[in-house]
Amino acid sequence: MSQTLQAVRGMNDILPDEAETWEQFEESIRDWLKAYGYRPIRMPLVEPTPLFKRAIGEVTDIVEKEMYSFEDALNGEHLTLRPEGTASCVRAAIQHKMLHAGPQRLYYYGPMYRHERPQKGRYRQFHQIGVEALGFAGPDIDAELILMCARLWDDLGLEDVRLELNSLGSSEERAAHRSALIAYLEGHKEQLDEDGQRRLYTNPLRILDTKNPNLQALVEAAPKLIDYLGEESLAHFESVQQVLRDAGLPFRINPRLVRGLDYYNRTVFEWVTDRLGAQGTICAGGRYDGLVEQLGGKPAPAAGFAMGVERILALWQESGGVAEGHVPDAYVVHQGDAAARAAFRVAEGLRAHGFSVLLHCGGGSFKSQMKKADASGAPVALVIGEDEAAAGEVSFKPMRGGDQRRIGMDDLASELAELLFAADGDDGGV
Ligand code: HAM
Repeated sequence: MSQTLQAVRGMNDILPDEAETWEQFEESIRDWLKAYGYRPIRMPLVEPTPLFKRAIGEVTDIVEKEMYSFEDALNGEHLTLRPEGTASCVRAAIQHKMLHAGPQRLYYYGPMYRHERPQKGRYRQFHQIGVEALGFAGPDIDAELILMCARLWDDLGLEDVRLELNSLGSSEERAAHRSALIAYLEGHKEQLDEDGQRRLYTNPLRILDTKNPNLQALVEAAPKLIDYLGEESLAHFESVQQVLRDAGLPFRINPRLVRGLDYYNRTVFEWVTDRLGAQGTICAGGRYDGLVEQLGGKPAPAAGFAMGVERILALWQESGGVAEGHVPDAYVVHQGDAAARAAFRVAEGLRAHGFSVLLHCGGGSFKSQMKKADASGAPVALVIGEDEAAAGEVSFKPMRGGDQRRIGMDDLASELAELLFAADGDDGGV
């Protein structure tokens, strides 16, 4: 026997029980995005490799070691499976001159690809919901983006999520801090690990983000970016905080929050939980005022965030949110040729009225079909034998108590509606 094939490591099948939870989540997400005026955009999964190098930065983990890049065998083009959505979204906005029509509130949803070491909450194919506000300069949009996340956590009933906030200032302020940081780290060069040594001159800010326990004291005492922020950056940061305070949203300023992508400036934030182990960041983002210009557009400020859907759903389940499996309104049981044809008519007729109907397929005795009807959870089985088919009727068999009765096919929709309405009433519904 040949060996069975498996999915690529770190890329998961989402099976029906779980996929139903995803769909329920996706429905609530759409309403939430609409409530804030965000409109959908869909970009390709594959982009030219230089897009990510320019946007995310050459000296980042993503570009250095996590991208699925390949050469198009047909034309030699360098392509990459998107590791994130911001670069593509900005590329699309520039390409289609979307900002000519004014600022844009956009969102996207879909798979992203990073060649990371897979573990719980970290996958090679994962899904993001990304929100990008293009053409907005003020701190108001930064604050709104953050508040909008808080509302979603609330809607979903997510527990133990906290907000970490920082400001990365302007590029000039970062340059001044960078010089000071390099000078400081040069003084302690022999203490740096391999990553630190390598990044000392290319991306010293990322050294502050190190997880290496031996470097914590060194990093703690390093020059802090916040001390290099000028008046405008400080005022912007203060305004964001003011809105959050007014809204009663607690946050912690984390001076070591630098993010793993190079396009950020000023406000950056992460939503973190302790409930998911090591991969506790469920959502992250910030302002990226230079990116539109950097990718060839007319300069335009922007800010946004993306959440990891797998992580949000894991936390949602932790917090007790599980989708109910789908239960059909009726299950159609039948035997004999004439009955089979009638069963199709009955099922289609009910679906045309908006009911969800499982039509038994695959034959079998009435007894075994009734077992399937029971297992489906449907509140009623519609039984069609030769007698019923000849009479243009259906045996209406409530599964949770109530009398079995024969009903004309034309009256079936109203009878079923009545049964479902009564069942709803029993559950305390309408
Ligand atoms: P990011 O921090 O790289 O930012 O990713 C955002 C979120 O995606 C993370 O907080 C995490 O929840 C999820 N995520 C990232 N990598 C993985 C993985 N390997 N497995 C599972 N989940 C993962 C960005 O991607 C930016 N584009 C966010 C942004 C949008 N900034 C401005 N606009």
